[in-house]
Formats: sequence, C-alpha cells, structure tokens
Amino acid sequence: MQAIHKYLFDEIYDFAGKIRTVNIAKGNFRFVPVMYLEAALANIEKMPQSTFDEIVEKYIEINIAHPFREGNGRSARIWLDLMLKAALHKVVDWSRVDKDDYLLAMERSPIKDIEIKHLLKNALTGDVDSREVYMKGIDHSYCYEGYEAFKTEEL
Ligand SMILES: Nc1ncnc2c1ncn2[C@@H]1O[C@H](COP(=O)(O)OP(=O)(O)O)[C@@H](O)[C@H]1O
Ligand SMILES: [Mg+2]
Repeated sequence: MQAIHKYLFDEIYDFAGKIRTVNIAKGNFRFVPVMYLEAALANIEKMPQSTFDEIVEKYIEINIAHPFREGNGRSARIWLDLMLKAALHKVVDWSRVDKDDYLLAMERSPIKDIEIKHLLKNALTGDVDSREVYMKGIDHSYCYEGYEAFKTEEL
C-alpha cells in the first residue's frame, strides 16, 4: 500500500508513501494515534488475507489506521482489489458501489462490518483483467473523495 501511495501521489505530496506523523480524524472518528500507529500497522500486516471476510476485515483495519496524511481511501481501494484478485480472482466493480452507501458503510465499519461486506460482496466481478473495469474503478474511487473533474478515458 505504501508503494501504491507513493506511485499515486509522488508528484503532488511530499509525504507520498510516508507514514504520517500527525493525528487525524474524520467526522467523529479519530484514526489510530501516531503513538500507536507503527504497532497497529505491524499487526495489520500479520492479518490473514485468504477469504473475502479476512480481506475486508484487513481493509477495515487499514482504514482505521489511516497510515497517510491524505490519500488513504484511494490507495487502500487499489490495495483491496489486489488482495481480492490474488486470493479469489475477483475485484470490486466500483461503478456498482454507490458513493453515499460506501461512505456511510465505511463510517460504520469500525463498529459493524456487515454493511461494507454486503456492499462489496454484491459488487464483485470475475472480470479481473478488464482495463475498463479497472479504469472506471479509479474514476469512481476519486469521485468518492470529491474529485470529479477528470475521467480516465479522457486523459
Ligand atoms: N467518519 C469516518 N470514519 C471512518 N472512515 C472514514 C470516515 N470518513 C471517511 N472514511 C474513510 O476514509 C477515506 C478517505 O480517507 P482519505 O485519507 O481522505 O483518502 P483520500 O485522500 O483518498 O480521499 C474514505 O474513502 C473512507 O473509506
Ligand atoms: Mg481525502
């Protein structure tokens, strides 16, 4: 995920690929305090990633850790797809995941993971080598975070 973050953001953030050194929160949720972040990441690294449930649970934990100052959502979704592809030969078709549903489910995921599991499971596709699925996924991923000016097919 660190490599993904570096690749995505190297040209715009000086902290691309670097673990954050400040505490951050979104809404009412405080992500893992810097003080515990290294230990949390070491534990997440050891979490299994063989089944759908294991992979989503690991994804939820990396969101709770929020290792980077910014860009966690976009890099974690690529990381999630790589785990799903390697273990299950499936990826998420993000064009089938509604933005509001997704953000609400992520907000609730530290307490209850059933919503995000349900959303993602219903959007799985076996079309893992489709460039269209991948690029549309990137567009949707950026849309969730409020970036809508560019579409990958127009670049
Ligand atoms: N209230 C919340 N509680 C937990 N996770 C959240 C909350 N709000 C947003 N998120 C998660 O954080 C992600 C955004 O994190 P951020 O570091 O800003 O990534 P990006 O820069 O790619 O937008 C969202 O995609 C969502 O998964
Ligand atoms: Mg953001």
